[in-house]
Parts: sequence; structure tokens; C-alpha cells
Amino acid sequence: MSYKEEYQASIDNPEEFWADKARQLDWYKPASRVLSTDEHGIYRWFADGELNTCHLALDYHVDNGRGDQLALIYDSPVTATQQKFTYLELRDEVARCAGMLKNYGVEKGDRVVIYLPMIPQALISMLACARLGAVHSVVFGGFAPPELAVRLDDATPKVLLTASCGIEINRVIEYKPIVDSAIEMAQHKPDTCILLQRPQARAEMMDGRDVDWQQALDAAEPAECVPVKGSDPLYILYTSGTTGKPKGVVRENGGHAVAMKYSMSAIYDIEPGEVYWAASDVGWVVGHSYIVYGPLIHGCTTVLYEGKPIMTPDAGAFWRVISEHGVKALFTAPTAFRAIKKEDPEAKLAKQYDLSCLKTIFAAGERLDPPTYEWLAQTYQVPVLDHWWQTETGWAIAANMHGLEPMPVKSGSSTVPVPGFNVEILDEEGKQLGPNEQGFIAVKLPLPPSCLTTIWGDVERFKENYLQTYPGYFTTGDGGYFDEDGYLFIMGRVDDVINVAGHRLSTGEMEEVVGKHPMVAECAVIGRSDELKGQMPMGFVVLKNAEGAQPETIVDELVQLVRKDIGAVAAFKEAIVVGRLPKTRSGKILRKTLRAMVDGDEYVVPSTIEDPAALDEIKALL
Ligand code: COA
Ligand code: AMP
Repeated sequence: MSYKEEYQASIDNPEEFWADKARQLDWYKPASRVLSTDEHGIYRWFADGELNTCHLALDYHVDNGRGDQLALIYDSPVTATQQKFTYLELRDEVARCAGMLKNYGVEKGDRVVIYLPMIPQALISMLACARLGAVHSVVFGGFAPPELAVRLDDATPKVLLTASCGIEINRVIEYKPIVDSAIEMAQHKPDTCILLQRPQARAEMMDGRDVDWQQALDAAEPAECVPVKGSDPLYILYTSGTTGKPKGVVRENGGHAVAMKYSMSAIYDIEPGEVYWAASDVGWVVGHSYIVYGPLIHGCTTVLYEGKPIMTPDAGAFWRVISEHGVKALFTAPTAFRAIKKEDPEAKLAKQYDLSCLKTIFAAGERLDPPTYEWLAQTYQVPVLDHWWQTETGWAIAANMHGLEPMPVKSGSSTVPVPGFNVEILDEEGKQLGPNEQGFIAVKLPLPPSCLTTIWGDVERFKENYLQTYPGYFTTGDGGYFDEDGYLFIMGRVDDVINVAGHRLSTGEMEEVVGKHPMVAECAVIGRSDELKGQMPMGFVVLKNAEGAQPETIVDELVQLVRKDIGAVAAFKEAIVVGRLPKTRSGKILRKTLRAMVDGDEYVVPSTIEDPAALDEIKALL
């Protein structure tokens, strides 16, 4: 079927379309109604179907002849180790881990917070939760204690799973002090904290709460898969919104499994048995979908890489992994390629490896900027495909559907809407815009399977944030346009979310942290363009009583404050002290104008500006 036919079928008759895709999975009981609405008026897919995501990812393959095939390759240059698991071995590890969680009271519907580095136990414990019908919430290792605490309070887990440390290139990051301080800060205390001691750091254990992972595992019996409903939550993944409180995106078992399976063939053009590598982190949505669930549900071999694109040990790291493990498709963030390009512009290191196995490169997390695209496409001679998605959807909204009908690439475009996503460009009043007119990107309801159906514990926030701006549509928070050929161009966020090295961060949250400093009267944080990371946060700070204050000292303190409260991943390293912030007469800070000014882009001083001299003053400081 051509892309056009497939896409039209998904829009004209979504129920039939997705019912057909769902038949590729081994349900315990198929849903009686493919699409329904719940008590809040929200669309739900496969709500009363019964399945278990871990069964689909592991047991099904073991029972159907893939027991001896590799399921997982753990490749860790930072510890100089590799470990391989067949589907049978991984199933057994996961079943035992599920038994361990069961021994600590975890049952269907209970939450488990996972704060682990990129080690097999991260993937194993996610699948173990899925096996029990428990809901995991993975927290990225680069977040500081307050961020972990907020998530503990919101998800209220019974158990927290962690390790003694993570490793950042050659730096050992001890996790236990972070975990201890987060638990102390949080109102909700998990009953048990199960900790894996890694040889690189030994954690002090707290009697009565902390349990040694290996001992707990040795004492456990394997646990079986627990059937859950299609609409039961599989996981909560917190993502940045415009305020300090992250949003707990809820992913449901049924729709998620269907979308994962479909995407592996239709987007990534991967067959069961092939090796697929998403070079991301399990703490992000890309890691959830395409390190763990997508490849395993599809019967592939997935790669879990504990390293960086550069410095572990060099800019040839990705090519070494691809060639050594026979990777067919690589998926990572453009920032990783920019880092490689900077270190090895002529790709000399790549030439040392046989990359004949590599058939496609996929990029997401931020726009694949044309210079990086051109470099990649010329250097590696395989299709380089940008695709656009969000934590909220769990899979691509727009892509080059390589497994369906590869389309010519247009540099700077993420190509066309993925079947199921009825994408429109709207103006401020909700009027649909035509080709080449830039506006707000919205998706007409119903969204396809896998997209969020609520924010954990707060359906009203979900409606308010995503469904109320344009009734009948989901607002994505991104702006962009379709060209005359129907190619979609994503031009960036239209809210206070920024993208730093493919990591989604909230400038609003950084402003809240900066504003806590006793000397700060007010502040604005914007994302300025950065050659390597895409964007970097930059603060503009007005001090309360500038007399006697030492701006450099205060800026240093602000940098430390953001690092302490949000984490190193925020990469907040730059702020300038200004006399006043540019505002409209109604008091709105002109962040967009500031951003254009810092980036050296053209900008028009809004007629509503309160005091144009405020902009001139800042311009003189830059
Ligand atoms: N645990 C603890 N700290 C972490 C961390 C983790 N899991 N991940 C990142 N950090 C820290 C880093 O050590 C760094 O700390 P520093 O300020 O003390 O140096 C900080 O957070 C920022 O990290 P990062 O954004 O990774 O920048 P970097 O300068 O260390 O590396 C790249 C730059 C381009 C190599 C790196 O960002 C990268 O590999 N990006 C790929 C992005 C990606 O996978 N995105 C996922 C979405 S697809
Ligand atoms: P996250 O939820 O962390 O995956 O971040 C989602 C946001 O990243 C989107 O809303 C976009 O702003 C941005 N993004 C992700 N992929 C792309 C892409 N291919 N092109 C442009 N922006 C992207």
C-alpha cells in the first residue's frame, strides 16, 4: 500500500485501521470496542482488551522460536564491559526481578520509581513492572534530588529502584546521596529502596528501608505475567511543561503496544531478528519506546549503550558499536551527530569500521538542522531521516515512512504525518492555514494509539494543557508549516519549553529556581541558539538591591542553584545582570524579542513595549 492510501485509510476509518494493526499482537482477549470514550470524554484505544506488555516483549518470542536469539546487547565503554542476553535469558531475568518486586509488595497498579543508569537492570526492571501490571516511572539520572522528590510525591511509588552510581565518561556520579536527599525532601516515602551495588562506588545502606538488589534477587522466585486491560497504565514519564511542576504523561498498555509494533516496520523498516539501536537514555521517551519496548515487541535485538557519542573513547564510538553488533538502523538526537562532526569533521574514524550493516539513520529530539543533515547524508551514504515526536505521543507524529514507501528527503523537514495523526496548522483563532503559512501545529482528535490520555492524577490539567485551546484538537506546543507538497517543517516550540542537547527543559522552571535567590528581583530565562546543543538556557536577571552586590558572584550562585535544584542536565551556565527586563505595557516579558536579539536575528520592537530603552540597554551588554 502506498503512504497516501495507508494514511487516508487511517484518517477515514481509524477503528478498522488500528484493529487490523492490533491483530499482529498476542492479546489474551481482544478489545470488544477498538475506540471508546471514557467518563471524562477522552478517547481510549482497546480499553477492555487484555494483554501483558512484558509477555509481548519476551515470553511470546520465547514461545515462538526466538528463545536463542539475542534480545539485548549491553555495551558499556565506560566500564569496559559487554553483556548479551538471549530472549530466554532476558525473560528469566525479568521474571525473577518481577518476583523480587512482588516480595516487596508490588502488585498490579502499584507504582515503582526507577532511578538507574544505562545498565541492563534498567531495562529489566521496566519489563518486570510491566510483567506484574505495575506502573514504572523512570527518572533520568541527570536530575537533581528536588526533581526526583517531585516525582516521588506525584507517583507515590511503593518501591524505588536504584544503583550505587552512574558513570559520566570517566566521572563516577554517586546516586545514593541523591536518592537519600530526594526521599528526605519528599512527602511520600517509598516503603523500600532496592539498590544495586556497582563496583565503581559502594553505597551506604539504611537499615529498614534499603535492600541489596543482588540479595533480594537471590531470594526471589520467578513471577508470571499478570493480564492487564488495554487502558491500564504501563508507565508514567514526567516531562517539562511551562511551569515548575513536571507533567506525568501516562502511557497505556494496549495502544502503546500496537503503535510500537506498527512503527518498527512502517517507520523504521526493521524485521524481527534484526539489530536496532536507539542511542538515547532510558530516562527519556526515546529510550522507553525504542531501546526497550518497540524493538523487543517486534522481536529484534536491542542495544543498550552506556557511553557518549564522543570521548568514550572517541568520536568513532557510534560506528564501532554499529559495526561490532551489526546494527541495521541507528536512532539518535542531532546533537550527538554535531558532537561527532565537531571532533571528526572528515569522518576519518568512521572509515575504520565496516558499516555495511547500517541501512538508515533516524534523528529526533530536536530538528535535524540542514548543515548536520547534509554532513550526515554525504558522509555515510545511507538515508538520514528526521522524524518529529514528543513524550506525549510516545512515537513519531511525522516521519519518512521508510518501511511503507520511502519518500525523497527535504532537508529541514520531518516529512509527512504518520498514519493516524491528522495534523493541521492553525492560526491563533483556530482557523486552518494553507501551505507555507506558519502557525500552531495541532492534531485533530482522536489521536492514534499510544498518545497520552491523561496527566497522572490530573485529568483537568490534561484537558487544560492540551485539549482546550482548540476544541476537537490536541495542541502539540510546536509551531511550523506544511509546504506545497505536504511536507511538514517543525520550527520550534511556541511555549516556554526549550531543547538542550535533545533534552526537553522548561525555562519557566529555571525562572522559578533563579527567582528563589534572595538577591533576585525578577528574571527571564530564554533558550539561545547553540551550535552543539541546539539551544542553551540563558538568564537575564534584575537584582533587588544592586548596591554592593557583586554580579559575578550572584551569577555563579545562580548557576549552582539551578544545578542543585534541577540538575546538571539543565546546562544553565550563563546569565547576565541587567537593569530592567523589556516588557509590554501589560507587564509581559518580551522573551521572543530577547531570543531574537541574542541570536542576532532580525526582530521588530513590539508597539506594545513599555520602555524601548530597556532593549537597547541589554543590546549594549551582549
Ligand atoms: N547522569 C548524571 N549526569 C548526567 C547524565 C546522567 N545520566 N547525563 C548528563 N549528565 C550531566 C553531564 O555530565 C553534564 O554535566 P556537566 O555540566 O558537569 O558537564 C550535564 O549533565 C549536561 O550533559 P549533556 O547534555 O549530555 O552534555 P555534555 O556536554 O556532557 O555532552 C553530548 C554533549 C552532545 C555529547 C551529549 O549531550 C549527548 O550525547 N547527547 C545525545 C542526546 C540524547 O541522547 N538525547 C536523548 C533524546 S533522543
Ligand atoms: P520530548 O518530549 O522530550 O521528546 O521533546 C519533544 C519536543 O522536542 C517537541 O515538542 C519538539 O519541540 C522537539 N522535537 C522532537 N523531535 C523533533 C524534530 N524531529 N524536529 C523538530 N523538533 C523536534
